[in-house]
Amino acid sequence: MITVSAPGKLLLMGEHAVVYGRPCIVTAVNARLSVSVEKRRDSGVVIDAPQVSDTKFVSRAIETVRARWKEEVSGITVHTKSEFSSSFGFGSSAAVTVAMVFALREFLGKKGTPGEIFELSYKTTKEVQRGGSGFDVAAATWGGALYYKNEGEVVEPMAVPPPPIIIGYTGVKADTMTIVRDVGKKRDSEPQKVERIFDAIGKLVEEARMHMGEGDWERVGKLFDFNQEYLRDLGVSSEKLEALILAAKNAGAWGAKLSGAGGSDCMIAITPQDRRQAVEKAIVAAGGEVLRFSLNAEGVRRDA
Ligand code: PMV
Repeated sequence: MITVSAPGKLLLMGEHAVVYGRPCIVTAVNARLSVSVEKRRDSGVVIDAPQVSDTKFVSRAIETVRARWKEEVSGITVHTKSEFSSSFGFGSSAAVTVAMVFALREFLGKKGTPGEIFELSYKTTKEVQRGGSGFDVAAATWGGALYYKNEGEVVEPMAVPPPPIIIGYTGVKADTMTIVRDVGKKRDSEPQKVERIFDAIGKLVEEARMHMGEGDWERVGKLFDFNQEYLRDLGVSSEKLEALILAAKNAGAWGAKLSGAGGSDCMIAITPQDRRQAVEKAIVAAGGEVLRFSLNAEGVRRDA
């Protein structure tokens, strides 16, 4: 039996603009998704994924690996297990795909680079859901904090300590692909305006990357606020997100924004140490749930 796990992710800055070639900054979270591959006596392929709403990513990953190594992948039972709910928007589809491709490569006894795991996994997720920048696949593959651009053309590990962030979950699951499509429609109808927003977000990401390197979290907080304004202009925020963001800011956060596609899912607040408790309390009082996960987690790995 082979067991592999891959981390979930939290998008810090650059959502939506990253789909159109601008950079983003993502960090892996220490909530992991595990995949075990076990040999069967017969030649069937059985997928046991009680927490995953659909097993398309697992089945498609099997196809990808078959095609890549031109070897039959059968006579296996696959079990998946997640340490986090797929509703958080932590990238369970990307994590399960990366873990699956890695596990099957081990199963076939092949070797290769993380870059190849990324390529095969990104190809798999694109086939299943069409669209998506692949930042979540990169986070699951390499882990840590990454500066990411252009469908993986640029993936640079950032040697920065985990930011002092509080994660607030709205309690509502958002459908990433619908929101990505809506932003695409907006870009079709107002190309200049939307491209300008993407450029501005890209610049904020560059600036944040510099200030993160210096550990200037107060400045990064300000950049979160500016980024959130542009996300509002794109129409991807929601009342619930705004309520949690406002509560965090009023309680002393340096800055706060939504994380991921928007619509719902999570918000993140950069917060000085002495305001953490107050900000957490305010998020809960505004109807949110505080998620406690550490950041910069390790990328995909074999556990057993
Ligand atoms: O909703 P999430 O956490 O999967 O993030 C989506 C981020 C987008 O930039 C909107 C889409 C993408 O694939 O980059």
